[in-house]
Amino acid sequence: MTYLDIQSLQVDFLQQNKSHNVLNDVNLQLPQGKIGVIIGPSGCGKSTLLNVLANLNQEYRGRVSINGQLPLEHIGTALILQDYGLLPWKNVWNNIQLGLEIRKIAKEETKTRIEAILKKMGIADLKKRYPAQLSGGQKQRVAIARSLVLEPELLLMDEPFSSLDALNREEMQDILMQIWQETNLTILLITHSIEEAVFLGQKIFVMSACPGTIIKTFDNQIAGDYSSRGKVEFLDMCNTLRSYLRKES
Ligand SMILES: Nc1ncnc2c1ncn2[C@@H]1O[C@H](COP(=O)(O)OP(=O)(O)OP(=O)(O)O)[C@@H](O)[C@H]1O
Ligand SMILES: [Mg+2]
Repeated sequence: MTYLDIQSLQVDFLQQNKSHNVLNDVNLQLPQGKIGVIIGPSGCGKSTLLNVLANLNQEYRGRVSINGQLPLEHIGTALILQDYGLLPWKNVWNNIQLGLEIRKIAKEETKTRIEAILKKMGIADLKKRYPAQLSGGQKQRVAIARSLVLEPELLLMDEPFSSLDALNREEMQDILMQIWQETNLTILLITHSIEEAVFLGQKIFVMSACPGTIIKTFDNQIAGDYSSRGKVEFLDMCNTLRSYLRKES
């Protein structure tokens, strides 16, 4: 049994009293401890797919299992949205602390974990600031810290770095790769960026236009190789992906 196993997933939405097929016969398998990346045209159903895995949408047909459990049963899934979802009235430290409080983690342990994650994400100096006092990239780091501090088993990310400039984006990709190397995290990430898919995705899933389905799965050997960016193999993989995506847009 594969850790993440989606078979014949179908999602329909009611739009103007008519049923609209958004995901059709989606099949996706991702082994535990791997990084999967989904790439596909805008509106093809990528966020819809992630929402099913995060148990935000239970109105689907087909089989979806995470470590043998339904999304509803599976604890240990973390979802990071594009709009960060930080609470504006809490400072960085308290935003990160929230999930630990809910899980009733002891005070000392909470402090140790928050300090470690602040350091890792390079935001220790910002711990007393409020979200309104942070840049987009800093907010994104806090949002990631807030999820990682709970030590999830599965991390779902919906276009996490799309609002960052190119350098910040590469730095965040490097940090994510480093975190992945240090943990046994399984990651499924959505992106619009071909380069990001090739750098991060050990498995790359290409989706068709709406109704979305997976038209191609790549096993990508060069994922995570810092020195590969800009090399011929990297560009070749980017071009292959690009040609699949062109057909869909
Ligand atoms: N709750 C909803 N009710 C009705 N239609 C919806 C709902 N959520 C999404 N849709 C529609 O489903 C389709 C897929 O949306 P989704 O957000 O999954 O696309 P996406 O691939 O994530 O797009 P993008 O790349 O722009 O983020 C779109 O046509 C969207 O309008
Ligand atoms: Mg989306």
